[in-house]
Amino acid sequence: METNKQLGLPVGVTLDRYIKRSQSAFSSATGELSQLLRDIALAGKIVNREINQAGLIGLAGSMGHANVQGESQQKLDVIANIRFIRALVNGGEACAIVSEEEEDIIYTGNDTGKYVVAMDPLDGSSNIDVNVSVGTIFSIYRRVTPIGTKATVDDFLQGGHKQVAAGYILYGTSTMLVYSTGQGISGFTYEPSLGEFFLSHPDIKSPENGTMYTCNDAYMEYFPEAVQGYIQHIRERGYTARYIGSMVADLHRNLLKGGIYLYPPVPKTPDGKLRLLYECYPLAFLVEQAAGKASNGLCRILDVEPVYIHQRSPLYIGSTAMVEELMETIQKPQELT
Ligand code: F6P
Repeated sequence: METNKQLGLPVGVTLDRYIKRSQSAFSSATGELSQLLRDIALAGKIVNREINQAGLIGLAGSMGHANVQGESQQKLDVIANIRFIRALVNGGEACAIVSEEEEDIIYTGNDTGKYVVAMDPLDGSSNIDVNVSVGTIFSIYRRVTPIGTKATVDDFLQGGHKQVAAGYILYGTSTMLVYSTGQGISGFTYEPSLGEFFLSHPDIKSPENGTMYTCNDAYMEYFPEAVQGYIQHIRERGYTARYIGSMVADLHRNLLKGGIYLYPPVPKTPDGKLRLLYECYPLAFLVEQAAGKASNGLCRILDVEPVYIHQRSPLYIGSTAMVEELMETIQKPQELT
């Protein structure tokens, strides 16, 4: 195995084998969560193929109308939504889904399913037409309503700390699936000629500190004063900015290299832009599993009590030292040195 690593050869652990191995650590596991993760990976492979061909088969571009969030809906948003819903319906482990693309809860028809899934099928989709990375984000809860009944909004509004698993698929220069079931976080790279995800990033740890910050600089003058002060301060220290505008890609880079992603409240989106259930919670779960931090500026994101399924939130997420310094600044702005 060591020789494989030295030669740069793939470690050879498929996602499927890894899921199986992880499941065997829990004697009470029934295999349903494992199957749910496989369903998501399968939909990810299909969406990956469609993204790769989008420019050739007329799938690029907008639908010409807005989604439930009031954002321009792209053809691939719709396709990814259909692909993931279909995979979850066919899989049978999820009884209901919340999607960024749909106003109401989607019922899978599998009322005996133990799990519910909140997802953003294609995040950062305005970047598709220009061949820039996009992602899928998912969050999984064990339902709180009785098995065999219709799921309700309560199954989704349990709070981020109740997630049993979360992850993202990054459709980038290579496609990666990164997920956690609460025992650390691992990344798998897709090998398209074999049609398999292989373990490539075992036990990812977020660097304790970093020198990169990630935000939409155009809104800087509207950021809360303390956030502006913090950014000014780290610029003076020589930190650098990186912003793709696809959160999965921005977060993935910062997770591997160290950094902080900031989306504060601005007048256009006074409650923050990012969605709590299928952006903030799952990404915060992953980052915490990698020893990083995530806050809404007042408290840990995973402790925020959700009120409705498409709720938005400010988000500050990334390397622990950076998030902590920002939080100290927000709480005591005058103490910047
Ligand atoms: O919906 C979320 C999202 O597309 C993120 O992926 C991205 O980080 C952010 O919005 C970009 O927002 P803005 O265009 O305001 O910078």
